[in-house]
Amino acid sequence: MHVDVIAIFPEFFTSPLDCSILARARQSGAVTIAIHNLRDYTNDKHQVVDDYPYGGGAGMVMKPEPLVQAVEHLLAEAPPETPVILLSPQGRPFDQAKAEELSTRQHLILICGHYEGVDERVRETVVTEELSIGDYVLTGGETAALVVIDAVARLVPGVLGNPASAGSESFAGGLLEYPHYTRPAQWRGMAVPEVLLSGHHENIRRWRRQQALYRTLQRRPELVASIQLSEEDKQLLAELEEDTDSR
Ligand code: ADE
Repeated sequence: MHVDVIAIFPEFFTSPLDCSILARARQSGAVTIAIHNLRDYTNDKHQVVDDYPYGGGAGMVMKPEPLVQAVEHLLAEAPPETPVILLSPQGRPFDQAKAEELSTRQHLILICGHYEGVDERVRETVVTEELSIGDYVLTGGETAALVVIDAVARLVPGVLGNPASAGSESFAGGLLEYPHYTRPAQWRGMAVPEVLLSGHHENIRRWRRQQALYRTLQRRPELVASIQLSEEDKQLLAELEEDTDSR
């Protein structure tokens, strides 16, 4: 996969893309990422990328011409139907399902919004979708672009050492993850649940599923409501109601 990012602070990406799994993914060539400085697509001496809003009001607006020039330049080298994604608080909420969908694409173009927003005509000409990473306002779309790159890149085949870890984790099956433990078995008076030490794989699987259901019900009940519960899930939830010890 190739990701083009258009930003006014290209240096923002240096360190996060140069460590851990993303650095390895880039070195292996599974994911290539190019950061483009929006100012390189301006035609004036001062490389101006923003201007005052028509109609007045606070803040500045990103000018349409540099952004659209940058996107058109990148699209000329991209496969047909390449998504052009604007990061902004007005976008559709970015979630794991969206990350999975984007991870199947060969090429993505991400636009980092800034200031009070981008000229509406950018949306009308080049943007194919708009994504928000949550209901809060960041100083700029760079942070959001990094989140999207991280969540998508780790789903690209060959990026994670163990592909199973992308499958069992929180949200992959619509639920939060069950609790994890490692050694020591006793620590500061707290014991690892017996079942995990038992070596009984079926009991461990059932316990984990029950814990995932319980945790999700407690913290994100709307997620439980949105998935199809199996007969076993219903039974595990019923057991929880009877037996407060398994919580
Ligand atoms: N830019 C500013 N806030 C944002 C958000 N919540 N998501 C995506 N882009 C943003």
